[in-house]
Amino acid sequence: MRILLAKSTHEAVSIVATMVADKLMSHPNAVIGLATGRTMEPVYAELVSLAKSRNLQFQKTFLFMLDEYVGIDQNHPSSFKSYIQHHLMVPLNLKVDQIAFPPIHLVEAGEAGEQYEKWIKEAGGIDLQLLGIGVNGHIGFNEPGSAIDSRTRVVELTEETREANKSHFHDGETPTKALSMGIGSILDGKQLILLATGKSKADAIKYLLNHHDDEFCPATFLKSHPHFTLVLDPDAASKISLKI
Ligand code: F6R
Repeated sequence: MRILLAKSTHEAVSIVATMVADKLMSHPNAVIGLATGRTMEPVYAELVSLAKSRNLQFQKTFLFMLDEYVGIDQNHPSSFKSYIQHHLMVPLNLKVDQIAFPPIHLVEAGEAGEQYEKWIKEAGGIDLQLLGIGVNGHIGFNEPGSAIDSRTRVVELTEETREANKSHFHDGETPTKALSMGIGSILDGKQLILLATGKSKADAIKYLLNHHDDEFCPATFLKSHPHFTLVLDPDAASKISLKI
Protein backbone atom coordinates (compact mmCIF):
# COMPACT_ATOMS: atom_id res chain seq x y z
CA MET A 1 0.00 0.00 0.00
CA ARG A 2 1.21 3.47 -0.85
CA ILE A 3 -0.13 6.35 1.25
CA LEU A 4 -0.06 9.89 -0.10
CA LEU A 5 -0.72 12.60 2.47
CA ALA A 6 -1.76 15.78 0.71
CA LYS A 7 -1.34 19.25 2.19
CA SER A 8 -4.88 20.25 1.23
CA THR A 9 -8.07 18.77 -0.16
CA HIS A 10 -7.32 20.46 -3.45
CA GLU A 11 -3.91 18.76 -3.60
CA ALA A 12 -5.45 15.35 -2.76
CA VAL A 13 -8.02 15.79 -5.52
CA SER A 14 -5.39 16.94 -7.95
CA ILE A 15 -3.14 13.92 -7.18
CA VAL A 16 -5.96 11.52 -8.00
CA ALA A 17 -7.08 13.34 -11.17
CA THR A 18 -3.46 13.50 -12.36
CA MET A 19 -3.01 9.76 -11.78
CA VAL A 20 -6.03 9.09 -13.99
CA ALA A 21 -4.84 11.57 -16.63
CA ASP A 22 -1.35 10.02 -16.63
CA LYS A 23 -2.87 6.59 -17.08
CA LEU A 24 -4.88 7.77 -20.05
CA MET A 25 -1.81 9.46 -21.56
CA SER A 26 0.25 6.26 -21.33
CA HIS A 27 -2.63 3.85 -22.03
CA PRO A 28 -5.37 5.56 -24.06
CA ASN A 29 -7.39 2.33 -24.17
CA ALA A 30 -7.32 1.83 -20.39
CA VAL A 31 -10.44 0.50 -18.71
CA ILE A 32 -11.32 2.77 -15.79
CA GLY A 33 -13.65 1.94 -12.90
CA LEU A 34 -15.54 4.96 -11.56
CA ALA A 35 -16.86 5.67 -8.08
CA THR A 36 -19.45 8.34 -7.37
CA GLY A 37 -20.20 10.41 -4.26
CA ARG A 38 -19.23 13.84 -2.98
CA THR A 39 -15.54 12.93 -2.71
CA MET A 40 -15.28 12.26 -6.44
CA GLU A 41 -17.07 15.38 -7.67
CA PRO A 42 -13.97 17.64 -7.57
CA VAL A 43 -11.85 14.80 -9.00
CA TYR A 44 -14.04 14.66 -12.09
CA ALA A 45 -14.06 18.47 -12.35
CA GLU A 46 -10.25 18.45 -12.23
CA LEU A 47 -10.08 15.62 -14.78
CA VAL A 48 -12.29 17.59 -17.14
CA SER A 49 -10.01 20.58 -16.78
CA LEU A 50 -6.86 18.42 -17.25
CA ALA A 51 -8.45 16.87 -20.33
CA LYS A 52 -8.63 20.33 -21.86
CA SER A 53 -5.20 21.58 -20.75
CA ARG A 54 -3.40 18.34 -21.71
CA ASN A 55 -5.56 17.57 -24.72
CA LEU A 56 -6.40 14.12 -23.35
CA GLN A 57 -8.12 11.80 -25.75
CA PHE A 58 -10.87 9.60 -24.34
CA GLN A 59 -12.11 7.90 -27.53
CA LYS A 60 -10.44 4.55 -26.75
CA THR A 61 -11.19 4.50 -23.03
CA PHE A 62 -13.90 2.28 -21.57
CA LEU A 63 -15.56 2.98 -18.23
CA PHE A 64 -17.32 0.81 -15.67
CA MET A 65 -19.43 2.20 -12.86
CA LEU A 66 -18.74 0.70 -9.46
CA ASP A 67 -22.34 0.55 -8.31
CA GLU A 68 -25.90 1.78 -8.78
CA TYR A 69 -28.97 2.07 -6.60
CA VAL A 70 -31.71 -0.52 -6.99
CA GLY A 71 -35.32 0.60 -6.68
CA ILE A 72 -35.06 4.00 -8.35
CA ASP A 73 -35.20 4.76 -12.04
CA GLN A 74 -31.72 4.92 -13.62
CA ASN A 75 -32.65 8.36 -14.89
CA HIS A 76 -33.55 9.61 -11.40
CA PRO A 77 -31.51 12.80 -10.80
CA SER A 78 -29.69 11.07 -7.90
CA SER A 79 -28.93 7.82 -9.70
CA PHE A 80 -25.24 7.18 -10.29
CA LYS A 81 -25.97 7.12 -14.00
CA SER A 82 -27.24 10.70 -13.83
CA TYR A 83 -24.29 11.64 -11.62
CA ILE A 84 -21.66 10.41 -14.07
CA GLN A 85 -23.46 11.85 -17.07
CA HIS A 86 -23.44 15.22 -15.38
CA HIS A 87 -19.87 15.15 -14.02
CA LEU A 88 -18.01 13.31 -16.77
CA MET A 89 -19.90 12.07 -19.82
CA VAL A 90 -21.37 15.38 -20.93
CA PRO A 91 -18.35 17.61 -20.12
CA LEU A 92 -15.98 15.19 -21.88
CA ASN A 93 -18.39 14.49 -24.69
CA LEU A 94 -18.12 10.72 -24.13
CA LYS A 95 -20.31 8.33 -26.08
CA VAL A 96 -22.92 6.07 -24.47
CA ASP A 97 -21.11 2.98 -25.76
CA GLN A 98 -17.98 3.93 -23.79
CA ILE A 99 -19.47 3.17 -20.41
CA ALA A 100 -21.16 0.22 -18.71
CA PHE A 101 -23.65 0.62 -15.88
CA PRO A 102 -24.56 -2.14 -13.42
CA PRO A 103 -27.56 -3.74 -15.18
CA ILE A 104 -30.25 -3.11 -12.59
CA HIS A 105 -32.90 -4.14 -15.14
CA LEU A 106 -31.61 -7.71 -14.73
CA VAL A 107 -31.90 -7.73 -10.93
CA GLU A 108 -35.35 -9.29 -10.85
CA ALA A 109 -34.26 -12.09 -13.17
CA GLY A 110 -31.32 -12.74 -10.82
CA GLU A 111 -28.82 -12.24 -13.64
CA ALA A 112 -27.46 -8.76 -12.92
CA GLY A 113 -24.29 -9.65 -11.01
CA GLU A 114 -23.19 -12.40 -13.34
CA GLN A 115 -23.83 -10.25 -16.41
CA TYR A 116 -21.77 -7.34 -15.08
CA GLU A 117 -18.86 -9.61 -14.19
CA LYS A 118 -19.03 -11.02 -17.72
CA TRP A 119 -18.85 -7.55 -19.27
CA ILE A 120 -15.86 -6.62 -17.11
CA LYS A 121 -14.09 -9.83 -18.09
CA GLU A 122 -14.85 -9.30 -21.78
CA ALA A 123 -13.35 -5.79 -21.54
CA GLY A 124 -10.11 -7.34 -20.27
CA GLY A 125 -10.64 -6.34 -16.63
CA ILE A 126 -10.32 -2.95 -14.95
CA ASP A 127 -6.94 -1.24 -15.28
CA LEU A 128 -7.54 1.53 -12.77
CA GLN A 129 -10.33 1.60 -10.19
CA LEU A 130 -11.27 4.79 -8.35
CA LEU A 131 -12.77 4.37 -4.90
CA GLY A 132 -14.20 6.47 -2.11
CA ILE A 133 -14.83 5.18 1.41
CA GLY A 134 -17.99 5.26 3.49
CA VAL A 135 -17.99 6.49 7.08
CA ASN A 136 -18.42 2.82 8.03
CA GLY A 137 -15.46 1.70 5.89
CA HIS A 138 -17.50 0.47 2.94
CA ILE A 139 -16.05 0.50 -0.57
CA GLY A 140 -18.48 0.48 -3.44
CA PHE A 141 -21.56 -0.55 -1.51
CA ASN A 142 -19.76 -3.43 0.17
CA GLU A 143 -21.01 -2.78 3.65
CA PRO A 144 -19.41 -4.19 6.84
CA GLY A 145 -19.74 -7.98 6.75
CA SER A 146 -18.95 -8.23 3.02
CA ALA A 147 -16.60 -11.09 2.20
CA ILE A 148 -13.21 -10.68 0.54
CA ASP A 149 -14.30 -12.91 -2.36
CA SER A 150 -17.71 -11.26 -2.90
CA ARG A 151 -18.63 -10.51 -6.51
CA THR A 152 -21.11 -8.08 -8.12
CA ARG A 153 -24.45 -8.58 -6.39
CA VAL A 154 -27.46 -6.88 -4.85
CA VAL A 155 -26.61 -5.54 -1.39
CA GLU A 156 -28.71 -4.10 1.43
CA LEU A 157 -27.62 -0.60 2.42
CA THR A 158 -27.00 0.01 6.10
CA GLU A 159 -28.91 2.72 7.98
CA GLU A 160 -25.61 4.63 8.26
CA THR A 161 -25.14 4.65 4.47
CA ARG A 162 -28.78 5.58 3.85
CA GLU A 163 -28.45 8.43 6.35
CA ALA A 164 -25.26 9.69 4.64
CA ASN A 165 -27.02 9.77 1.27
CA LYS A 166 -30.53 10.81 2.25
CA SER A 167 -30.05 14.46 1.27
CA HIS A 168 -30.07 13.31 -2.38
CA PHE A 169 -33.61 11.96 -2.09
CA HIS A 170 -37.11 13.07 -1.12
CA ASP A 171 -38.41 11.77 2.21
CA GLY A 172 -39.05 8.04 2.19
CA GLU A 173 -37.42 7.65 -1.21
CA THR A 174 -33.85 6.78 -0.11
CA PRO A 175 -33.00 3.41 -1.68
CA THR A 176 -32.49 0.40 0.57
CA LYS A 177 -30.55 -1.66 -1.95
CA ALA A 178 -27.83 -1.32 -4.57
CA LEU A 179 -26.10 -3.41 -7.17
CA SER A 180 -22.41 -3.22 -6.36
CA MET A 181 -19.19 -4.74 -7.60
CA GLY A 182 -17.96 -7.06 -4.87
CA ILE A 183 -14.70 -6.88 -2.93
CA GLY A 184 -13.32 -9.71 -5.07
CA SER A 185 -14.37 -7.85 -8.25
CA ILE A 186 -12.63 -4.67 -7.02
CA LEU A 187 -9.47 -6.55 -6.00
CA ASP A 188 -9.24 -7.93 -9.55
CA GLY A 189 -8.54 -4.36 -10.76
CA LYS A 190 -4.89 -3.86 -11.72
CA GLN A 191 -4.51 -0.55 -9.91
CA LEU A 192 -6.70 0.78 -7.09
CA ILE A 193 -6.85 4.37 -5.85
CA LEU A 194 -8.89 5.30 -2.79
CA LEU A 195 -9.43 8.97 -2.03
CA ALA A 196 -10.68 10.07 1.39
CA THR A 197 -11.34 13.71 2.22
CA GLY A 198 -12.95 15.40 5.20
CA LYS A 199 -13.21 14.84 8.94
CA SER A 200 -16.15 12.43 8.59
CA LYS A 201 -13.74 9.87 7.11
CA ALA A 202 -11.03 10.19 9.79
CA ASP A 203 -12.31 7.30 11.97
CA ALA A 204 -12.67 4.95 9.01
CA ILE A 205 -9.13 5.80 7.85
CA LYS A 206 -7.71 5.27 11.34
CA TYR A 207 -9.43 1.87 11.49
CA LEU A 208 -8.26 1.00 7.99
CA LEU A 209 -4.63 1.68 8.86
CA ASN A 210 -4.76 -0.31 12.09
CA HIS A 211 -6.52 -3.44 10.86
CA HIS A 212 -6.05 -6.03 8.16
CA ASP A 213 -8.57 -8.14 6.24
CA ASP A 214 -11.32 -7.17 8.63
CA GLU A 215 -14.92 -7.59 7.43
CA PHE A 216 -15.99 -4.90 9.88
CA CYS A 217 -14.20 -2.38 7.62
CA PRO A 218 -14.25 -3.73 4.04
CA ALA A 219 -11.64 -1.18 2.90
CA THR A 220 -9.03 -3.13 4.92
CA PHE A 221 -9.14 -5.83 2.22
CA LEU A 222 -7.52 -3.40 -0.21
CA LYS A 223 -4.28 -3.32 1.77
CA SER A 224 -3.17 -6.69 0.42
CA HIS A 225 -3.51 -5.47 -3.18
CA PRO A 226 -0.07 -5.03 -4.82
CA HIS A 227 -0.97 -1.75 -6.51
CA PHE A 228 -3.12 0.13 -4.01
CA THR A 229 -2.73 3.87 -3.35
CA LEU A 230 -4.49 5.65 -0.51
CA VAL A 231 -4.74 9.42 -0.96
CA LEU A 232 -5.72 11.49 2.09
CA ASP A 233 -6.40 15.13 2.74
CA PRO A 234 -5.35 16.57 6.14
CA ASP A 235 -8.82 16.11 7.69
CA ALA A 236 -9.15 12.46 6.65
CA ALA A 237 -5.62 11.86 7.99
CA SER A 238 -6.22 13.80 11.23
CA LYS A 239 -6.58 10.72 13.47
CA ILE A 240 -3.57 8.75 12.26
CA SER A 241 0.06 9.01 13.23
CA LEU A 242 2.58 7.79 10.72
CA LYS A 243 6.04 7.00 12.03
CA ILE A 244 8.64 7.76 9.40
C1 F6R B 1 -19.85 5.47 -4.69
C2 F6R B 1 -19.55 4.46 -3.70
C3 F6R B 1 -19.35 4.73 -2.27
C4 F6R B 1 -18.79 6.12 -1.96
C5 F6R B 1 -18.75 6.33 -0.45
C6 F6R B 1 -18.29 7.72 -0.10
O1 F6R B 1 -19.92 4.92 -5.99
O2 F6R B 1 -19.50 3.36 -4.10
O3 F6R B 1 -18.48 3.76 -1.74
O4 F6R B 1 -17.52 6.24 -2.50
O5 F6R B 1 -20.00 6.11 0.10
O6 F6R B 1 -19.25 8.64 -0.52
P1 F6R B 1 -18.97 10.21 -0.40
O7 F6R B 1 -17.84 10.50 -1.30
O8 F6R B 1 -20.25 10.84 -0.85
O9 F6R B 1 -18.65 10.46 1.03
